[in-house]
Parts: sequence; structure tokens; C-alpha cells
Amino acid sequence: MTRSHINLDLDSIADELKSIVGDRWVITQYELMESYLKDETPDPLRPKPAEKLVLVKPSSTTEVSSILKFANNKKIPVFPVGGRTGLVGGAVPTEPGIILSLERMNKIEIDKENLMAVAEAGATLGDLIKSAEDANLFFPPHPGDEGAQIGGLVATNAGGARAIKYGVMRNYIKGLEVVLPTGEILSFGGKLLKNNTGYNLMQLIIGSEGTLCVITKAVIRLFPKSKSMITLIIPFKNRSDALKSVPEILRSGSMPLAIEYVQIKEIMKAAEHLNENWPVQEGVAQLIIILDGISQEELLLTCEEISRICESNNAIDVMLAESSEEQNKILRIRSNIYTALKPDMIDILDVVVPPRSLRKLMDEVDKIASKYGVYLPTYGHAGDGNLHVHIMKEDVKNLDIAKKIKNEVYKVAISLGGVITGEHGIGKLRIENLDLVLNSKHIEIMRNIKRIFDPNNILNPHKVLPSTYVE
Ligand code: LAC
Ligand code: ZN
Repeated sequence: MTRSHINLDLDSIADELKSIVGDRWVITQYELMESYLKDETPDPLRPKPAEKLVLVKPSSTTEVSSILKFANNKKIPVFPVGGRTGLVGGAVPTEPGIILSLERMNKIEIDKENLMAVAEAGATLGDLIKSAEDANLFFPPHPGDEGAQIGGLVATNAGGARAIKYGVMRNYIKGLEVVLPTGEILSFGGKLLKNNTGYNLMQLIIGSEGTLCVITKAVIRLFPKSKSMITLIIPFKNRSDALKSVPEILRSGSMPLAIEYVQIKEIMKAAEHLNENWPVQEGVAQLIIILDGISQEELLLTCEEISRICESNNAIDVMLAESSEEQNKILRIRSNIYTALKPDMIDILDVVVPPRSLRKLMDEVDKIASKYGVYLPTYGHAGDGNLHVHIMKEDVKNLDIAKKIKNEVYKVAISLGGVITGEHGIGKLRIENLDLVLNSKHIEIMRNIKRIFDPNNILNPHKVLPSTYVE
């Protein structure tokens, strides 16, 4: 459905929203909403925002409910935004309507007895990490940018580094409060580690990218703070030796929080971008391994085992970072490779294959690169088989070629039993590739689910699903 026929009266929408949240929290000047019009998708592919938009910042679930009820009655599109750190245009307001930011709803309560956090959707990942730490608890995954908000992390089922041991966002979410487009407020689960009550709608909502309902609150499982943590950087002369070591490490009995694969060129660029020093400048390919455990002695034994495996695969060296400062720096530099490359980037791919097939995937990516005569910087979450392939402006002169390269990488990943996205999601950008992985029945069921939740297609319209939305 296109809505070009709907002539939005922005002034009357703004008046209604002001009556719900107060004048101060409704923004109508386009210049003042600039940072809400885009996410972190590379510029050449980022969808264009609409021009007629109103930004609203409610302070409570009840206000969110009133906003949605109003928008649904008037069939006004609503774009829920979080920290706008997504990479597939999922949060870009692509049609005239309302931008809904929950940034004022940012409280976090920690329940130490149950090892749970109850976080409002607008709290950031950084807030969650800090609140857990202050309570001597730990939120194990590190899904990227710490400015990401809880609502967005849940809506996109964010993954990132440190997902090997305990999983991605959906593995931590035990309860949700959401608002349906009708304004009805629903709660799922709670501070529960087991719950088998009916169809699991909560898990359906996790990863639905703002298309089914607005997430207002999440109950998040925490873990005891690790008594000890060590980060290893292991340089290798070539990629094959580095990647060969990964399944061997995973089989050896230790379960790292993260095994990241990086290449010297890109990690040095990230360090430079942050004005920091990357501690290991040897080798071409490197593994970054994060371990946690109950004592330093236990971890040092694990390090010995990992060193033995890597050395048998010709590792040049094994560097150990033990201070939390040094370890934070390593993770910070790793997390900024994307930011450092972004200005020169056309696209970042997010394919995932069975972990054992990562080497094969990368060899095939090399073949694609040489076929097109380009350099495709790659790095990824090696322990998860999740690889980011970057298509750069310098080498790839036009968007058509970028698309061809993307399609070839997708084809290879799928032929290895993989899918086109491990963590970044579908958003707007990947809709055109959805049918490479999902068959038409699957897409039809998704469409029917969308219709049940959002019969007027007001929530983040034309994201995730192909646009042949039938009312
Ligand atoms: C990363 C983001 C780009 O792995 O997913 O750094
Ligand atoms: Zn990633």
C-alpha cells in the first residue's frame, strides 16, 4: 500500500501529540530532527527519509499507548527509533508520519536476588553495562555501539561480539512490555528462567524490527560478574591458519565469550581512527579471544591450551591482556572497525554460515574479489561463523557492481548452509534479498502475522517485508 494519497496535516498531528506528551516533547522543525532521520547505514545505500515528519518523545508507556491509538485511528505511519545504530536502514522514517523516540524512558532497575535487569526501552547499552557492573553483575554480550538503546537491541535481536558463550539478545530477554498499534499494552514473561505458556509471542517480537509493536520495557537476564577475564590477541601469517584454529579452540573444552577474526590492515585503521595503539602489529590475520572464568589460574590454564592449539597452527605469538583497561581498549578498537571504514564504504554484508565453513566462505569471497578486481575488507565474529564483508567506494565504482558482488557473496553463503544476515537484520536494505533465504510460504506467514498485529500497517511500514502488503 502506498500512502501518497494521505495528506498529512502536520500541525494538527503535532497539536494532538502535544496534548499527550506536552509541548516541549514534540518537534516539528526538520532541522531539529536531523539525527533522527538516519541510522548508521553507509551513505550510498541509506534510504532517504520522508520530509513531512513530527518527532515525539513520550515519557511513559501510557503516553506511548495514547500516541499509537491516535496514529492508528488516523492511519498515520509511526517509526519507532532507538539509538539509530542499525546498518540496514531499519529505523529511517521513510514515509511522512511520526518519529517515536523513547529516549526519555531510560530507567534501569537491577534485581540482584534474581540476577535480572528491568530496563526501559530508551536506556542505552552503555547504561545497562554500567548498571550491571555497579551491582557486581555482568551483561555478557556486546552488541556493538554502546549508544544503542534497549528497545532497538531487542527489536533487532542484536548479536555482536561475546555471543558465543551465552548467545544473542533473544537469549537474555525473559520478559517484555509492549504497546500494540491499537494502544493496548501487553506484557510477556517476567523474571522467569522457564516459561512454557502457549505460543511464544515474545520471541516473535524479538527481532521484528519495530514492525509489530513498540517495545517499552524488557526484563534482561544478567550473570554474576566474572571473577576473572583475559583477552588474547593471536597474530598469524595467514588467514587459513587463524581460522583453522577456531573450531579446534571451540572443541577443546574452553568456551570463550568471543572469538573475533580481524585483519591487520583494518584493525590498525580502527586504532588510528580512535587515536589509539593496537597492541599487536604482527601478522596479517589475528584472532581476538575473550575468556572469562572463576579464577586467573583457571584462565591461564585455558590460555595455555589455546596457545598450544594456535601455535600448532603456526601462530606467530600470543599476547595476553589482563588489565580491564587494556581489555576495554581492545574491544573498543575492535568495535570501531566499522566506524573507521564507513566513510569509504558502500555496503557492509553480514552473512553467517556454520562456523566450520567460515574458511571456505572467505576463500570464495577472495575469488569474488579477484573476479571483480577489488579489495573486500572482511572481519567477523569467527566463533559464530558471522562474517562482515565490506564493499568499498575506492574499488567498486558503482552501485550495480556493488550489488553484483553482494549477490555473489550471498549465493556462496547460502550454498554453505548460511543466511544473508546473522545480526544486522533485514530493515529496508535487505528486503530485496529476503526471498533468497525464505520461501514464499514463509513470507506469506510473516505477512499474515504483520496483519494481525498491525492491520493498518502503521508501524515501521515497508520494513522487513516486501512491499506488496495487502490490507
Ligand atoms: C561489527 C558490526 C559492524 O561487528 O556488526 O563491528
Ligand atoms: Zn558484527
